[in-house]
Amino acid sequence: MPVRPRQMLEEGPILDPLFVEHYRRFARWPSKAGARWMAAKMRALGVAPAGRVLDIGCGPGWLVRFLAGHFPAMRFVGLDASLVMLAAAMRGLREEGLDGRVSFLAADGQRLPFPDAAFDAVISGATLHHLNDPVVLLNEVDRVLAPDGHVIISDLNRALPRALWPLVVGADWVERQCRPAAVRRLPEGFINSYRAAYAPEEIRGFLERSTLGRRVGYYPRWFQHWIQTPPTPVFNRERCPRG
Ligand SMILES: C[S@@+](CC[C@H](N)C(=O)[O-])C[C@H]1O[C@@H](n2cnc3c(N)ncnc32)[C@H](O)[C@@H]1O
Repeated sequence: MPVRPRQMLEEGPILDPLFVEHYRRFARWPSKAGARWMAAKMRALGVAPAGRVLDIGCGPGWLVRFLAGHFPAMRFVGLDASLVMLAAAMRGLREEGLDGRVSFLAADGQRLPFPDAAFDAVISGATLHHLNDPVVLLNEVDRVLAPDGHVIISDLNRALPRALWPLVVGADWVERQCRPAAVRRLPEGFINSYRAAYAPEEIRGFLERSTLGRRVGYYPRWFQHWIQTPPTPVFNRERCPRG
C-alpha cells in the first residue's frame, strides 16, 4: 500500500500560549507512558548513571522531569525553540526539587549551542516532523554526542496501516474537544502530526545522508518509529530486531 504524500502542517516551534497550556495539561499522561518506554531503553542501553542527557524539542518538559525522577544522578537539559513551551516547562521545577539537575534552554535543535561531545545521551520525542530537513538536526546530534554516547529519537510514523487511521481520527477529535474554543482549529493535532510525519524510507534516507547514521539503528513500528544506538543494518529492508 503506497504511503500518502507528506504534508508540512506543523513546521517549526509551537508558539500559541493558549494551545501550549492545553498541550502541557493534555500531554502529561501520554508523556508518562513515553517516559517509561524511554527510561527502559536508557537502562537497556546502559546510559552512564551520572550522565548528561539532552532532550531536543522537550515541549512542556514532562519527559525530562519524569526521567529525572527515574535517574537521580543524571543531569538533563530540555531544549526547545519555543519560549512559550519553555515557560510552561519551568513551572513548578523548584517545588519538585529538580532545578539543580534539570535545566531548560531556548535554542534551535538544528544549531545546538553546545561543544562537541557534551552529552552522554540525546533523546527526542515527536519533534522530527516539525523539521523540513532532519539531516541538519541528526548531524548536530552526532556532533554533541560523546563517542560512546547513546541516542533515542522517536516520532510518529506516517506509514501507519490504513486500518488504524480511524484511531488517529478519533484521538484527534477527542483532543480537539478538550481544547479552549479559540484554539480548536489550529493545525496542530494528532491527524496533522501524522500527515507531517516521516515514513520509514524517508528516515532511512536521512540517516544515510547524516553523520549520525553510522552509529544508530532504525526501528519502525505501526504508530511510531525510532532511531537508537547501537548501529544495526539501517539500510536493509528486513525486519529490525525488537528494541
Ligand atoms: C509535538 S511537540 C513534542 C514535545 C515533547 N517532546 C512531547 O513529546 O510532548 C514538538 C516540540 O518541538 C519543538 N520544536 C519545533 N521545531 C523545533 C526546532 N527546530 N528546535 C527545537 N525545538 C523545536 C516545538 O516547539 C514543540 O515543543
